[in-house]
Amino acid sequence: MTITPDMYERLVNVKTGEISREIFVNDEIYTHELERIFTRAWLLVGHESLIPNPDDFFVSRMGNDSVILTRDRQNNIHVLLNSCMHRGMKVCRYDQGNTRSFSCPYHGWSYSTDGRLVEAPGQLVGVPGFEEHYRCELDKKAWGLVRCPNVVNHKGTIWASWDENAPSFHDYLGDMRLYLDAALDHRDGTEGGSEVIGGVQKWRVKCNWKFAVENFIGDHYHNISHRSVDLVGIGPSAGRGRRDMESTGSFQNIIIGFPALGHGVIGHLPRYEEPPYAPAYQRHPAVQEYDRQVYEARVKRLGNKMRVATGAASIFPNMSFHGRQPRTLAVFHPISATEMEMWRFYLVDKDAPQEVKDVLRHYYLRYSGPGGLTESDDMENWMYASEASRGTIARRHPYNYQMGNGYAKPVEGLKGAVQGGDTTEENARILYNRWAQFMAGKSWSELMPAQSV
Ligand code: FES
Ligand code: FE
Repeated sequence: MTITPDMYERLVNVKTGEISREIFVNDEIYTHELERIFTRAWLLVGHESLIPNPDDFFVSRMGNDSVILTRDRQNNIHVLLNSCMHRGMKVCRYDQGNTRSFSCPYHGWSYSTDGRLVEAPGQLVGVPGFEEHYRCELDKKAWGLVRCPNVVNHKGTIWASWDENAPSFHDYLGDMRLYLDAALDHRDGTEGGSEVIGGVQKWRVKCNWKFAVENFIGDHYHNISHRSVDLVGIGPSAGRGRRDMESTGSFQNIIIGFPALGHGVIGHLPRYEEPPYAPAYQRHPAVQEYDRQVYEARVKRLGNKMRVATGAASIFPNMSFHGRQPRTLAVFHPISATEMEMWRFYLVDKDAPQEVKDVLRHYYLRYSGPGGLTESDDMENWMYASEASRGTIARRHPYNYQMGNGYAKPVEGLKGAVQGGDTTEENARILYNRWAQFMAGKSWSELMPAQSV
């Protein structure tokens, strides 16, 4: 089958709530995604705490391209394509570190941490044989590493887009920003910010990357998947039930989506500050005391201000996060139509006591990641669903996304947001509708209608 741009509206029929399995298994569609989504949208590349010092680097991905997140000697942050401009060799084959230059192992072209091929005082960069072999005729200024044109540091998270015409990151986020900020900086920029602890977990899962994004954006329906871990008492809640009232507080999470932007959240509407609840897994005296102090400081500072809170959320296309503990950032890198690489960053307050960081680190590892007791349930579902959707007959039949269709209503206080209750597939429809718009090749002026920003 040859897929043309006009076919995407048929593959994703949000009116009837039917979405073709092809978008989760088809190689041609996957190739289009790389071009039409991953070279245009804003993508999470890393966190500033991974590159704290000049000449630090962290190797990341944007779509199927390897990129290097660097901090140069002037403390500027860059995102560079990890491919030598001579014959394409990977100039950095480490995950993370500090270097004076990226020296290509093939023929020796060497680039500074801001991507230049041109010598600068104190930097070991340049081209071997520049005088003898190139006769000084190579334009070194023009042959530095490809630099991503749009890079933003948003409360420590680094985002990038290859598209020079992309809207600003803040316009791209819209009011979804409130939820992201609540996760990144729940102390409103007044203290030391957040940092990534314990490195970054990376592992591959045999499923399409969209399965994970959809799960985080609003799948409140899959509680049954985690029943066994909760029932036998080996899960994070130590047998109390992850989603009981005790562990989620006295209020209900609802599904809030941003139809024009493709983002969504399982979280709370803006509300007045409430005392911190103590989820079962956090009943460690050090964490409780720390949470109480953070809460009291915030009330003193903000008074009766409205706040939002996030359970889980997704930012289009492939970034998700948890906003309460565990505060994690996740990226689902596309590897093929039926394989992704999951990356997980774990966040703590930079200036939290070490004991608090240690308790949270243990909790994060027990909950999330390749060995996490809860997340492995999800991965099993995604893998078997992918496997069972590849068959010749199976892929003729669409998935059903009809739950709550037509019942979403606007949310007061959040621009461009709708909510459809605590269990609905509204946000999945929002996600795939946005996906179809990008896949149809719409321009930014069509993708970013004024009312959404
Ligand atoms: Fe890098 Fe030749 S490929 S110097
Ligand atoms: Fe889950």
